[in-house]
Amino acid sequence: MGWWMILATCVSAVILTVYRHAAFTCLLESSPKPNVLFIVVDDLRPALGIFGDSLAKTPNLDQLGARSLVFTKALAQQALCGPSRTSFLTSRRPDHTKLYDFGSYWRDAGGNFSTLPQYFKENGYHCHSIGKVFHPDIVSNFSDDSPYSWSQTPYHPSTQVFKNAAVCPDPLSGEKFANLLCAVDLESQPEGTLPDLQIKTAAIEFLERWKSHPEKENPFFLAVGLHKPHVPYRIPKEYLALHPLEQIPLPKYPEVPPDLPLIAFNPWESLRRRDDIDRLNISFPIGRMPESYQRLIFQYYYASVTYIDDQIGQILERLVQLELSQNIVVSFLGDHGYGLGENSEYGKFSNFDVATKTPWMLHNPKSMPRLSSFKYVNPFSMSKEVPQKPLVPYQTHSTPVELLDVFPTLVATTGLEPVPLCLEGEAQTKMLCTEGQVRLGKNVPLAFCQYPRPAKIPVKKFDQPKLATIKFMGYSVTSEHFRYTRWLPFDHHTFLANWSHTVAHELYFHDQDPIEHFNLVSHAEFQPTVRRLQDIVKTKFGSPSLKTKQEVQV
Ligand SMILES: *[C@@H]1O[C@H](CO)[C@@H](O)[C@H](O)[C@H]1NC(C)=O
Ligand SMILES: *[C@@H]1O[C@H](CO)[C@@H](O)[C@H](O)[C@H]1NC(C)=O
Ligand SMILES: *[C@@H]1O[C@H](CO)[C@@H](O)[C@H](O)[C@H]1NC(C)=O
Repeated sequence: MGWWMILATCVSAVILTVYRHAAFTCLLESSPKPNVLFIVVDDLRPALGIFGDSLAKTPNLDQLGARSLVFTKALAQQALCGPSRTSFLTSRRPDHTKLYDFGSYWRDAGGNFSTLPQYFKENGYHCHSIGKVFHPDIVSNFSDDSPYSWSQTPYHPSTQVFKNAAVCPDPLSGEKFANLLCAVDLESQPEGTLPDLQIKTAAIEFLERWKSHPEKENPFFLAVGLHKPHVPYRIPKEYLALHPLEQIPLPKYPEVPPDLPLIAFNPWESLRRRDDIDRLNISFPIGRMPESYQRLIFQYYYASVTYIDDQIGQILERLVQLELSQNIVVSFLGDHGYGLGENSEYGKFSNFDVATKTPWMLHNPKSMPRLSSFKYVNPFSMSKEVPQKPLVPYQTHSTPVELLDVFPTLVATTGLEPVPLCLEGEAQTKMLCTEGQVRLGKNVPLAFCQYPRPAKIPVKKFDQPKLATIKFMGYSVTSEHFRYTRWLPFDHHTFLANWSHTVAHELYFHDQDPIEHFNLVSHAEFQPTVRRLQDIVKTKFGSPSLKTKQEVQV
């Protein structure tokens, strides 16, 4: 709004509603709404320096974290891209979006729920999506939920169509494969570029266009979704050298946990089907990844994270140069975590802490050190000899939170009208409400997640769900000290679990076992904890008010 418009609005408001302190409201409204930069990274665990990971090389995200509230225990509601994104963008649990796989659009399957960008759009923001923000295809109605969520056509990089193509040259023969490990020369790639480089360029161009059209008076909500470190690790090969193989450790517990119910195990089919991993002939489901590959996967993952850090650093640098950093809220998050060999687990597809935990950072220009002091660091020019003093978060929130909380918390940070909580039954019926909480102070330190299975032991397509074959659900709660998961029969027609029959359960004591290698659910001294957490899980997932008592007992 221009000044004259604000004035005109104020004057008419004062005339119309003097008794409602309209003049005071107008004064508040005249402070410009902040822009929003909403960054989502695919399959990112907290492999960032600012999260205390000393193997990470993430100088740019570390600087963002030094100016942010850093959530060190943020958990996805289901460790799979489509269900997780749909969940946090609508602030509803998968049981209410009714999306556990990649097969439906929540507005048709679950309810016509408003989304995070839609809420900003309806509050006068110009909303744009660059890269992977919504999960593509039917999950967002082949349109990234346009027109509801966005003000202009979402941008996707042209080279993303090669994501699973045979474009990774064998180092010896030069023959091209669809490999997991795919460090490339850009010149060897279709169009001579990669999706995340195109996304970075598109984001910078959006900011530049914004800056050069000052007549646009609405604030923007720019969502940028980067594809790496999602498999395959197709990245510019230079980044590998920043993570020398000889410095890469092996996972602490590389074997399948002794007391793990196999329904909880993810047999990492998304890795097995890549040409290079397929050639290793690892037996299904619990054959061990060879040590040389344990190291290589770790190296390529960390190199992919540095590659992403570099792109985000360049976007933030441009933001500062364009003087857009003074009044911008920045939210940075992954869609869920990723196992890198802990407990012989690779990938997401489970309730393990490594699969659900993802970094979330929130920068508020009103109360935190300004981004204008951000300086892009080229990872290739980081000093090797003089170790930098690690940066620390401006503020840390270390108890469990949920990605459901992102929507209401971002809204609260931006100063828009708060998103109402979903009251009894409303999560399935009301267009705008949240199942999360505003996480700007202390509140209930619990996070819930779930994962579906087609069988009790790993079979083909075990980890990648399809609604029609789902027969079991693992419901989890993570408290400050424990993770408890209960596996139950699940009816995919009624979306109901059978709470009178427990297929298996798990309890991990994070204070002593952060890797979750020792399932303590049968240990006598933990029975009070098991009973307490069992009740909490059942109350959360087992008694939605719209389901009748009779249905629940089926
Ligand atoms: C669903 O929500 C959208 C956006 O809020 C609205 O335009 C549309 O009319 C709704 N559709 C139905 C069937 O209620
Ligand atoms: C999904 O997209 C189709 C085709 O554009 C459109 O006709 C339909 O209304 C959309 N669904 C919803 C719920 O908006
Ligand atoms: C995998 O199996 C194929 C076919 O049986 C064999 O040719 C190949 O040498 C095996 N590779 C390894 C690494 O054992």
